[in-house]
Amino acid sequence: MLGARRTGQGGGKGMTTVPRTAIVTGAARGIGRAIATRLAQDGLPVTLADLESGRAALAEAADAIAAAGGACRTAFVDVSDQAAVEALVADHVAALGGLDVMVANAGVTLIARFMDTTPEILNRSLDVNFKGVFHCYMAAARQMIAQGRGGRLIAACSISGHRGGDWVAAYVASKFAVRGLNQCVALELAPHGITANVYSPGMVDTPMYQEIDRMVTEREGRPRGSQIRKMEATIPLGRFALPGDIADVVSFLASEQSRYITGQSLIVDGGVCMN
Ligand SMILES: NC(=O)c1ccc[n+]([C@@H]2O[C@H](COP(=O)([O-])OP(=O)(O)OC[C@H]3O[C@@H](n4cnc5c(N)ncnc54)[C@H](O)[C@@H]3O)[C@@H](O)[C@H]2O)c1
Repeated sequence: MLGARRTGQGGGKGMTTVPRTAIVTGAARGIGRAIATRLAQDGLPVTLADLESGRAALAEAADAIAAAGGACRTAFVDVSDQAAVEALVADHVAALGGLDVMVANAGVTLIARFMDTTPEILNRSLDVNFKGVFHCYMAAARQMIAQGRGGRLIAACSISGHRGGDWVAAYVASKFAVRGLNQCVALELAPHGITANVYSPGMVDTPMYQEIDRMVTEREGRPRGSQIRKMEATIPLGRFALPGDIADVVSFLASEQSRYITGQSLIVDGGVCMN
């Protein structure tokens, strides 16, 4: 049953239905907000987590989910801070009674040519995109192992976790690292019934990509929006993804239907990067 698990012996009498629950990081906007919305529609109570600086957007996202009948709560976290992620999981479990799905979605895109990549760009890219996933996977897995009923670890990767590009050395390195980590975790946690999979979007129409367009067009003296139009022309399915296109795939990865899939990267990019 989607959004619930059964407890008790042998079915029938004594059986109780306990809702599965999820945490989504980077849930104030973009892909993370769409994922939280979708998982709530699937019936999972969700903690939407984001930086405290995103307080207003986070509250707005949670209000919209609640208005549509979803069960959700909000929490502040900087995923680069391991202790803060552990506190996020403890707080979620105290409020909702367990944790079944961790979506480590939070990420940053800081672009620079390789030779201009500063220590700040390199460190922030790795701290948020890679270590953030590491922290979320570890804190969630500790709870899932203790619960003894399996679980779903899911993280944001990218087609930049499958091939290099120019101006994105630190970002690409962080996303390749996420894919490597995911494979190791999938192997080690399989005996616990915990799966680990990443979703790899191509180009998605979110505030992050608007910011990329701004940075690239300013740098090259081109009109705003022209980078998005240029990239759109390279997508076989002919359009940028919408956040909901990614959320549908994460809904599948979080569900019972994905039970025999682990260690994978699911590319969701309209056909740009085929494997
Ligand atoms: N938009 C794209 O085209 C695209 C493509 C491939 C992969 N991705 C990946 O998908 C994920 C979501 O991307 P998006 O486009 O929705 O980005 P976005 O910038 O629109 O949203 C990212 C969210 O993460 C939050 N965040 C950033 N740093 C954080 C931190 N340290 N702790 C907690 N929250 C933090 C931000 O506040 C924001 O709400 C990212 O990991 C990104 O790398 C995006």
